[in-house]
Amino acid sequence: MLFLLAALGLACSAAAQSTSVSAYIASESPVAKAGVLANIGTEGSLSSGAYSGVVIASPSTVNPDYLYTWVRDSSLTFQALIDQYVYGEDPTLRSLIDEFITAESILQQTTNPSGTVSTGGLGEPKFNINETAFTGPWGRPQRDGPALRSTAIITYATYLWNSGNTSYVSDSLWPIIELDLNYIATYWNFSTFDLWEEIDSSSFWTTAVQHRALRQGITFANLIGQTSPVSNYETQAGDILCFLQTYWNPTGNYMTANTGGGRSGKDSNTVLASVHTFDPDAGCDSTTFQPCSDKALSNLKVYVDSFRSLYAINDGIASDAAVATGRYPEDVYYGGNPWYLCTFAVAEQLYDALIVWSSQGYLEITDLSLAFFQQFDSDVGTGTYDSGSSTYSTLTSAIRTFADGFVLTNAKYTPTNGSLSEEYTSADGTPISAYDLTWSYASALTVFAAEAGTTYGSWGAAGLTVPSTCTSGVAVTFEVDYDTEYGENVYITGSVNALENWSATNALIMSAADYPTWSITVYLPPSTTIQYKYLTQYNGEVTWEDDPNNEITTPASGSMTQVDSWH
Ligand SMILES: *[C@@H]1O[C@H](CO)[C@@H](O)[C@H](O)[C@H]1NC(C)=O
Ligand SMILES: *[C@@H]1O[C@H](CO)[C@@H](O)[C@H](O)[C@H]1NC(C)=O
Ligand SMILES: *[C@@H]1O[C@H](CO)[C@@H](O)[C@H](O)[C@H]1NC(C)=O
Ligand SMILES: *[C@@H]1O[C@H](CO)[C@@H](O)[C@H](O)[C@H]1NC(C)=O
Ligand SMILES: *[C@@H]1O[C@H](CO)[C@@H](O)[C@H](O)[C@H]1NC(C)=O
Repeated sequence: MLFLLAALGLACSAAAQSTSVSAYIASESPVAKAGVLANIGTEGSLSSGAYSGVVIASPSTVNPDYLYTWVRDSSLTFQALIDQYVYGEDPTLRSLIDEFITAESILQQTTNPSGTVSTGGLGEPKFNINETAFTGPWGRPQRDGPALRSTAIITYATYLWNSGNTSYVSDSLWPIIELDLNYIATYWNFSTFDLWEEIDSSSFWTTAVQHRALRQGITFANLIGQTSPVSNYETQAGDILCFLQTYWNPTGNYMTANTGGGRSGKDSNTVLASVHTFDPDAGCDSTTFQPCSDKALSNLKVYVDSFRSLYAINDGIASDAAVATGRYPEDVYYGGNPWYLCTFAVAEQLYDALIVWSSQGYLEITDLSLAFFQQFDSDVGTGTYDSGSSTYSTLTSAIRTFADGFVLTNAKYTPTNGSLSEEYTSADGTPISAYDLTWSYASALTVFAAEAGTTYGSWGAAGLTVPSTCTSGVAVTFEVDYDTEYGENVYITGSVNALENWSATNALIMSAADYPTWSITVYLPPSTTIQYKYLTQYNGEVTWEDDPNNEITTPASGSMTQVDSWH
């Protein structure tokens, strides 16, 4: 059979799995679960060399070499496993989850090119699989890691706390979680490489997952009585939610994925953000970009349509039917191809939307989402459609078929053995790039759960309001020249919380990248007069600058650089 197809010039892989969604899920679901487990050390069959609890991105060592562990991929993978454990779907996962948390707690403390545990090292995106730092050049830092990791661990810790295992949560898990949450609270307003590791700017995905993590962190900290950092988290979360709104492109009606990079900004980044910040209790809230919100549906249509005429395998597909989608239309990695996890994410957003419409008993069409809904009924208008109405039935049934289409597109390009690579070619759908990609398998697990109507709890998105002004600060860079001894560092502290409120112990360490110039960029309140001093610490001994204090008045907006000489 295979020989015959090959002889006829047909792509064997292309015809492998093209039955129904339920048949595909039945066969692919166990393959995806086994695929995830195979890539976790030390027991995983494909993860030889990975330390206990370390998730490899893929066993592929050449073209491309993905035999590393990424904080993002690992955390998203374990979020799926932790959800399965906590919701009773797979009680066997407990020790693996414990191993993952131990591994991550080691990586948190591993000094790396992004810094130490207390100077920004938590933004390091990838490590060697033996829990040592990866020191080669890379797009760093990537500030989504601590957010995704803390969200996963909080999910598990909340379950343990509610099961009565309180001292373990307070003594062993909270310190790990708090480091990640403090990192987010301190660094969310600094630039970051995006999740595709290419653009250094602000990134919608990163901002969205940081916001979720802090909100979930606030609820969790209150639950376990660790309330001292909560008011700072609340202030930062409000500012992050404010900033999140600014990514919206009001003329194109989509979410701009990154503030830099010079692209259209249409990007799977935004669809993944909606799916991974889904809160089934938040309705169709657009400020948190819920899957059924008008903004997220408009964005989805713009994103999907950008691939319709881009890939040869999408040729001839009707303009209201599913297509294969990739990371972003300008992508040139391996020539620019559809990704399994991006195409699954489109289906997952739609399934999540269907879950909420069904539970709230209606769907609403606004001016913003009209174009999305008119794909399925060109006559439909804005308004609220009750679940008893024929318009509701027609639309939701068409949207389910549309969602199924994205799963079936991936199914069509899944080889017979169910193996999921990173991508499949835009020309004929042959799998390409890293094979057995852990994140591809994890994305299959989450879309299959959504297809079945499964949800995994709320993170507190319901009822949030956006502060009327974003109060986050202006970027101020401080520079001072100082000749230090080996092991001696220069710090800054001053009269505001962002400068640690005159604390010598918590003073902010400066960077010596341009030694003997020491520098740091901090976000300070706008139009404010601030006093500060530099100090050094060497073998525990603190040396302050002489009086008087330095003083600046920050600008109303934008940024400034303050060059001082030590006195
Ligand atoms: C860890 O892995 C890296 C990369 O493979 C290797 O260079 C290093 O020697 C290993 N370190 C240890 C302690 O095994
Ligand atoms: C709490 O959970 C941890 C992690 O699984 C486990 O090691 C510990 O034995 C548990 N303690 C109790 C009292 O159940
Ligand atoms: C920091 O926050 C301000 C106010 O929301 C925003 O204008 C600025 O772009 C942000 N910068 C980064 C790098 O996140
Ligand atoms: C699954 O099939 C693909 C495509 O035929 C092949 O490249 C891959 O090695 C197979 N994987 C396994 C585990 O057999
Ligand atoms: C900062 O210092 C002032 C004066 O000592 C104190 O009143 C205030 O509570 C401090 N704020 C924080 C967040 O520590």
